[in-house]
Amino acid sequence: MSDYKPVASSQVTLTELMIPSYSNFGGKIHGGIILGLMDKVAYVCAAKHADGYCITASIDVVDFLAPVEVGEIVSLMASVNYVGNSSMIIGIRVISENLKTHVIKHTNTSYFTMVAIGEDNKPKQVPALLLKNREDIRRFFQAKNRKELKNTYKKDEAMLKQTAYEHHSFMDALSRERCKVELD
Ligand SMILES: CC(C)(COP(=O)(O)OP(=O)(O)OC[C@H]1O[C@@H](n2cnc3c(N)ncnc32)[C@H](O)[C@@H]1OP(=O)(O)O)[C@@H](O)C(=O)NCCC(=O)NCCS
Repeated sequence: MSDYKPVASSQVTLTELMIPSYSNFGGKIHGGIILGLMDKVAYVCAAKHADGYCITASIDVVDFLAPVEVGEIVSLMASVNYVGNSSMIIGIRVISENLKTHVIKHTNTSYFTMVAIGEDNKPKQVPALLLKNREDIRRFFQAKNRKELKNTYKKDEAMLKQTAYEHHSFMDALSRERCKVELD
C-alpha cells in the first residue's frame, strides 16, 4: 500500500435515470432513493481509496435543496475530502438534469464518514491524502473544520441529555411554543 494517494485516484461519479418506481405519492423521487445512491457512491469512493471494505459511520446533514422528477438523470460526484487514521470524509455533490430542457439542478451536498475495516473486522489505517490543487486543500480544511465543529456539537448534545427537564422551570418557555402541557 502506498503512503499517499491523490484525491483524483478515487473520485467517482454515479449516474442514474430516475424511473417511475422511485417516486413517492407526490410524484417526486423518494428522498430515500437519493440517500441510497449517496451511500453507494460514498462506499465506492472510500473503498477505492482504502483498497478494501469500508463501513458508513455517519452522515452529515442531508438537505434536499430541490425536488427530483421522474425522467431526470441524477449524477452523484464523490471524492475523498479528508482522511484521519481509519476514517475518510467523502464529499458528495448531487445534481439532477432534465434531458429535454437541459436544466441542471443542484439537489444535495453531503458528507459521509466512512471507516476502512480490515480482515480482523477492526478499523484499519488508510493511505494519507495527496493534495494536488487548491480545491483539494480547501476541501481538506473545510472537512477538518466541520469534523471539529461536530465534536463540539457532540459535547453540547451530551450536556443537553444531562439537563433535567423539570417542567416548572420550563413552563414560561413552553408557553411561547406551539404545544400544551397536560400532565397525567
Ligand atoms: C464505525 C465503527 C466501525 C467505528 O468503530 P469503533 O470501534 O468506534 O472504532 P474507533 O473508535 O477506532 O473509530 C474508528 C474511526 O471511526 C471514526 N468514527 C467512529 N464513529 C464515528 C462517527 N459516528 N462519526 C464519525 N466518525 C466516527 C473515529 O473517529 C475513528 O476515526 P480515525 O481512525 O480516522 O481516527 C463502528 O462504530 C461501527 O461498526 N458502526 C456501525 C456502522 C454501520 O453499521 N454502518 C452501516 C449503517 S447502515
